[in-house]
Amino acid sequence: MRRKEIISGFSKLSREEKVDALTHNAEKIRSQLDSFRLQNKEQQDLLDEISENTLSNFYLPFGVAPNFAINNHLYHIPMVIEESSVIAAASRSAKFWAEHGGFNARVVSVIKSGQVHFTWKGEKAKLLDLLPELKYELYRSTKELTRNMRQRGGGIQGIKLVDLSEEMNNYYQLHVTFDTMDSMGANFINSCLEQMAKTMTKFFKYYKDLKEEERDFEVIMSILSNYTPDCLVECWVECDVEELDKIQPGMSGKVFAEKFMKAAKIAELDVYRATTHNKGIFNGIDAVALATGNDFRAIEANGHVWASKTGRYKSLTHASISYNKFRYQLTLPLSLGTVGGLTNLHPLAKFGLELLGKPSAKELMMITAAAGLANNFGALRSLVTTGIQQGHMKMHLSNLLNSLKADYEEKRQAIEYFAHKTVSYSEVEAFIKSIRTKLQ
Ligand code: MEV
Repeated sequence: MRRKEIISGFSKLSREEKVDALTHNAEKIRSQLDSFRLQNKEQQDLLDEISENTLSNFYLPFGVAPNFAINNHLYHIPMVIEESSVIAAASRSAKFWAEHGGFNARVVSVIKSGQVHFTWKGEKAKLLDLLPELKYELYRSTKELTRNMRQRGGGIQGIKLVDLSEEMNNYYQLHVTFDTMDSMGANFINSCLEQMAKTMTKFFKYYKDLKEEERDFEVIMSILSNYTPDCLVECWVECDVEELDKIQPGMSGKVFAEKFMKAAKIAELDVYRATTHNKGIFNGIDAVALATGNDFRAIEANGHVWASKTGRYKSLTHASISYNKFRYQLTLPLSLGTVGGLTNLHPLAKFGLELLGKPSAKELMMITAAAGLANNFGALRSLVTTGIQQGHMKMHLSNLLNSLKADYEEKRQAIEYFAHKTVSYSEVEAFIKSIRTKLQ
C-alpha cells in the first residue's frame, strides 16, 4: 500500500527509511527489493552510488548476438534489451550477412559540439571585431582543461559565432566543436563551455574601449548538444540479388529484393512507417548502448533529429538495386564512448566492451550501427515475407507461459499446441488451465 503524503528530505533518509516513507507495507516491500540486491557488497555499493535514492536493482537481460562480420572482423555483440526477439533477429541477420560478405562500415566524422547561449546588446559588427581577441582568451582559459584531451589527439576544434538576434532579441551563440577521442565527452565539453562562459563574462566586463551597452552581456546557458551531425557513421550490406534466393522458401531473391526495396522506400516516404522502422533500428542500437554503458537517450534524440534533417522525418536507411547488386545502408550520427562514464564503472558494461575486444569509440560506432542495421534488416525481412508475428509469437508465448508460471511439461505441450496457432493471453491461459484441470 503506497503512502500518498509529500515526503520531505527523502534523499537524506537511509534505504530502510525510504521504503518506510513510501509504503505502509514496508517489511514485505523491503524484502522484495532486497531480493534483487547483489550479495557482493562492493558491487552493490557501486551500483547504489551510480544514481540517487537507490533502493534496489532493476535487472534486464544481458545477451549476445554472435557472428557479426564487420569490415572482416568477427564480433559477438553484447545487447541489453527487455524486448523478446530483438537479439534473435540481430543474430539471424548477422548469420545471413556473415555468409554474404558481412557488414561494411565507415566512420565519416567524429566532431561533437556545444554552445554558450548568450545575449549581447551591442552591434553585431562590433562583436565580430572582438571575436579574434575573444577566441584567443577562450583558448587560453581552457588550456588546462583541454591538456589531457589534446595529448590524446583531441580537444577544441573550432569556435564560431552564430547570430540568432533576428529570432530572439540580442541572442547569439558561441558554437564550439570538439573531438573527444574515445570518450563520449559530455563532462569534458560541458566543463569547457562553462569555463568559456566565465571567460566571456569577464571579457565583456573588463575589456577596454567598450560603450556602456556593449558591456550588457548575459550568459543564458552553456551545454553540449546531443545533436552530432558531424559524428557520423555509415554501415551497409550488399550482395548479388541471386544470393537472396534462399532467404524465403518460395520467393526468388529478385522478388524479395524488390519487395524489400518498396518497404524501405515506404519508410522514406511516410512518417508513420518511418517512426516504426527507425524504432526497429534503435532496438539494436540502444541494446548495444546499454550493454556498453552508453547513453541511449542521447543516441535516440540524436538519431531522430538526423532523421528529420530535411524538414520531414524519414527512415535512416536506404535500399537500392543496381547492376544486380542489392545494397542496404544505414547512416546516422552516433556519439559513443569506450572510456570514462559508466563504460568502466559498471561491471557488465566493462565486460561488454571486453567481449568486443575493447574497441575504440570509432570501432564501437561501426559495431553499434551494424547491430541497428541487422535488427532493421531482420524486421523488414520478416515483414515482407512471413509477417512479424510468426517470430515474435514464439517469444511472446514463452513470456506468457512464464507469467502463468507454467512448468517444463506445460511449456512443452503449449509450444507444440501453439506451433501453428495464433497466440493470445486468453488462449494460452485457457490451454494451461485445461492441462491443469485434466491433472486434478
Ligand atoms: C518492434 O520492436 C520493431 C518493429 O516494429 C520494427 C519494424 O516494423 O520495422 C518490428
